Amino acid sequence: MGLNRFSLPVVVVMMINAMLLSQGCLEEERIALLQIKTSLNLTSSPLLSWGKDALCCSWEGVTCSNSTTTRRVVEIHLYYTRDWSMGDWYLNASIFLPFQELKVLDLGANRIACCVANEGFERLSRLAKLEVLYLSLNNFNNSILSSMKGLSSLKYLNLDFNQLQGSIDTKGT
Ligand SMILES: *[C@@H]1O[C@H](CO)[C@@H](O)[C@H](O)[C@H]1NC(C)=O
Ligand SMILES: *[C@@H]1O[C@H](CO)[C@@H](O)[C@H](O)[C@H]1NC(C)=O
Ligand SMILES: *[C@@H]1O[C@H](CO)[C@@H](O)[C@H](O)[C@H]1NC(C)=O
Ligand SMILES: *[C@@H]1O[C@H](CO)[C@@H](O)[C@H](O)[C@H]1NC(C)=O
Repeated sequence: MGLNRFSLPVVVVMMINAMLLSQGCLEEERIALLQIKTSLNLTSSPLLSWGKDALCCSWEGVTCSNSTTTRRVVEIHLYYTRDWSMGDWYLNASIFLPFQELKVLDLGANRIACCVANEGFERLSRLAKLEVLYLSLNNFNNSILSSMKGLSSLKYLNLDFNQLQGSIDTKGT
């Protein structure tokens, strides 16, 4: 049989489709990633390249599931993405709620002091798969601990190099 002269473009289109499917994430998640990028007020960072293409699973710091259907964002790494000269960051944790399959969130080294009123880390209790949270090298104080109580899927929390004081009771957290 052999390839007829119409096959090659068809194969190319199929390959491009497969590539887009394999590197794209859910539309809602792509929009949320771009909102995060905007809210960071970046001037220089690898994240500035987010949005240059639609292939959000290949964006710097983003990892998706290996699903054969729609790939979902499972890891977001924002370590040291923010310019510290902008002062403390009062974050709105709800910006991460579109990522319902999220397992790992790294917000280390961003000078986060905590949160916008009523938009703290207790919001992340709605992320049922969140297992790992890196918050090292920020400005959190002891008040962050109470907002972690509802995060029932959490297995690892790193709060090294913050402003926590005294002995910390980790029972029930
Ligand atoms: C970006 O700028 C806005 C407006 O000044 C501010 O509310 C917000 O906290 C800033 N974002 C970060 C990550 O500092
Ligand atoms: C997806 O599969 C690749 C190759 O097998 C593997 O290296 C990677 O860790 C997997 N990613 C996830 C999120 O499971
Ligand atoms: C926090 O972010 C969510 C999701 O983007 C938004 O709906 C909400 O209005 C924000 N809250 C504040 C206080 O800015
Ligand atoms: C802890 O941080 C929160 C949020 O930034 C702030 O409102 C509170 O005053 C701080 N508490 C202490 C004891 O510094």
